[in-house]
Amino acid sequence: MRAVTLPAPDDMDAWREAARGLIADEVPPDRVVWQVGTVASDLFAASADPVEAPRAAASPLRVSRGFIALAGDAVLHHDPERFALLYALLWRLRDAPRLVEDHADPLVRRLEGLAKAVRRDIHKMRAFLRFRSVTDDAGERYVAWFEPEHHIVRANAAFFVNRFGSMRWSILTPDVSIHWDGAALNEGPGAARGDAPDGDPIEEVWKTYYASIFNPARVKVKAMLKEMPRKYWKNMPETALVPQLLAGAQARESGMIERARDRAEIGGNTQIAWEALREEALACTRCHLHKHATQTVFGEGPVDATMMFVGEQPGDQEDLAGHPFVGPAGQVFDRALAAAGITRAETYVTNAVKHFKFEPRGKRRIHAKPDAGEIEACRWWIEQEQMLLRPKVTVALGATAARSLFGKVMTIGRERGREQRLPEGGAAWITVHPSYLLRLPDEDARTAEFARFVEDLKMAHATVG
Ligand code: URA
Repeated sequence: MRAVTLPAPDDMDAWREAARGLIADEVPPDRVVWQVGTVASDLFAASADPVEAPRAAASPLRVSRGFIALAGDAVLHHDPERFALLYALLWRLRDAPRLVEDHADPLVRRLEGLAKAVRRDIHKMRAFLRFRSVTDDAGERYVAWFEPEHHIVRANAAFFVNRFGSMRWSILTPDVSIHWDGAALNEGPGAARGDAPDGDPIEEVWKTYYASIFNPARVKVKAMLKEMPRKYWKNMPETALVPQLLAGAQARESGMIERARDRAEIGGNTQIAWEALREEALACTRCHLHKHATQTVFGEGPVDATMMFVGEQPGDQEDLAGHPFVGPAGQVFDRALAAAGITRAETYVTNAVKHFKFEPRGKRRIHAKPDAGEIEACRWWIEQEQMLLRPKVTVALGATAARSLFGKVMTIGRERGREQRLPEGGAAWITVHPSYLLRLPDEDARTAEFARFVEDLKMAHATVG
């Protein structure tokens, strides 16, 4: 048995070094015990080999960026098994280098779940942490109390240094405290809630925060969108500042914000956030598909739509027009919506993949199905659209949309016709893609399947109430 002691619960570098050495020594996962901060327990001491972190291999196993990203997040989870799970995955990568892309694999799924929980916690800390002001010998200092679920504090420190670099501040948490003195970041032991001052959060700090975020000379809206979970915007008092800041900072650039501000009076900050999200998506290079497509085709519809429809990817016509569902499949879809009594005003229509994937054939561009990696890369946008709009019901049109929304393969035949829950919450339905109806060879089958499709849409619509 080999026991590995890592110096800190979030020490990815130490885990990586140790894991490399173990792989080089061909130590199987069930022969390794991972622990943090203390020497090997008695339980293993009797049989353990020396327990220092193993040496790194001369020619280390090469892993994909997907694995590194997954491990970087998952390692911060509080689950004590995380190190062992990551090592078990690393071990299997030796024979299956693309295993990380197999989202149906139980181990990959479990680690993805950990990574996702960590990302959510990181976002929460950025969105909900509130400084209060205290005065000490050196003057004003801002102190915040936060209780993270996972080991995210160090990983998040750079964000706060970046945002509040000109202030002196401390963030106190039960396991660790971090202190910024305007020049250097220091770490201290954990604290108790009572160590942080009570009272109202400092409005001015948040105003500065938002003003700095929206100042194009410093950090662009794009960056803010990466960093702030949009679903919290609606509920945050500071967002009252957003329209005015946005208008001041960005209007000169394109006039986009002026339009957004007009609409903000109707749709509120959600509309502005959506506009900025779309702007960001227009420059998306998260996968290689952007290289050949004409443009990103982002979702469309009112931000207060109660129903969100998710298709597969833009087709040839959508790619040229820049709008979803305007080609032949879009026409079938429109007819079905009308037959189901659903109005466009209730619907937001988008795609799982935002760039057209095709194979050139002479002058024609033939639709090609997006693969798992492309769907995964684009999931980020769907998640943002979901968080921002929070539709009452989401309808997956076809297998690609279902895979993107549920994060796993869903069999339409089996899942169709009953209400589902999305992993992030919210009602969902799965049905066929309208282009399936177009491909049916005979008229009778088309008529019957169209009617079934309309029935599915009606059931989904009934969920809205
Ligand atoms: N098919 C889709 O899935 N989406 C579109 O936007 C058009 C066709």
